[in-house]
Amino acid sequence: MNISETIQELRQRFEAELASVENRDAVEKLRVAYLGKRGEVTQLLAGLKSLSGEEKKEFGQKINLLKRDVEGRIAEHIEAVKKAEEERLILGAEQYDVTLPSLHPHTGSYHPITLVQRELEEIFSSMGFTVEDFKEIVTDYECFEALNIPKHHPARDMQDTYYLDNGQLLKTHTSAAQNSIMRKYGAPLRAIFPGRCFRNESTDASHENTFFQMEGIMIDTDISISNLIYFMKTMLSKVFRQDVEVRLRPGFFPFVEPGFELDISCHICGGKGCSTCHGSGWIELCPCGMIHPSVLRAGGIDPEKYTGFAFGLGLTRLAMMRYGIKDIRDLNSGDLRVLSQFTHE
Ligand code: DAH
Repeated sequence: MNISETIQELRQRFEAELASVENRDAVEKLRVAYLGKRGEVTQLLAGLKSLSGEEKKEFGQKINLLKRDVEGRIAEHIEAVKKAEEERLILGAEQYDVTLPSLHPHTGSYHPITLVQRELEEIFSSMGFTVEDFKEIVTDYECFEALNIPKHHPARDMQDTYYLDNGQLLKTHTSAAQNSIMRKYGAPLRAIFPGRCFRNESTDASHENTFFQMEGIMIDTDISISNLIYFMKTMLSKVFRQDVEVRLRPGFFPFVEPGFELDISCHICGGKGCSTCHGSGWIELCPCGMIHPSVLRAGGIDPEKYTGFAFGLGLTRLAMMRYGIKDIRDLNSGDLRVLSQFTHE
């Protein structure tokens, strides 16, 4: 092989090897193999020494051209490899197949009690009620005393209460906010106050130690039982998306006089009688009544001038009825298979 052929062969071999190089280390190895101290191009240049003047000139030019070309090609290749590496970094180490269908993004859902609560808040707001938030730790006065439930009154036994060391307690019913709200706004007053309540109960399918209620009060001059019936009927017809009949039965609660249990016509059979309503056509829904004069007075409202009604809706119970949930414990379980099924229609 003469020198020209050697140069030609070297050029071809170098190009072939360069084509299969994929990372910076491999390019560096290739550079050393051709341009390093003992590299093939370097040796070829060293071999010039033994040539005659004419040959030296001719081949010197050719070899130097080869050397420059090899240097240039290596610099180019280093740039290309760098760029490819950066792109891989941007994409993360993985390669993505952009033609694959996407994974479903996880979308959250509202808890059924939140759904019912929001719906009620909307309905009551449209009837002129304000929505009030109230603390969960309350005083004995707020929870009992101000509601006409004095110490040693047997009504206190109705609720097994979680007491704190400082004498305060976890509110056992949303009625505990009545006094503060009356004091805050005075009369006339229309307010609802949803909230979490706690009772020291053993749990089963229909009892939980933590549950939600929504209390409502309306106080004005000349408020009567017919106002109570009207508001409850209007509100419940919206919740159940059908005309609901309501009836009142006497019930005793120290903070209302008279007190009632409010029943609604069964939303499953429309009042004809079915297994849900045990054949009676009626379902017990919530206690209510006309606010006791002592409770108004404790709230700074003159019972000679004002009257009002109050009701204590079981939000948890309403959510169970509305969505056909059989076991109350499912609502507190945090089990997303159960809880993510409900939507606001
Ligand atoms: N606070 C009562 C309870 O949880 C429920 C109640 C009864 C609320 C009568 C009222 C009412 O506003 O008028 O047991």
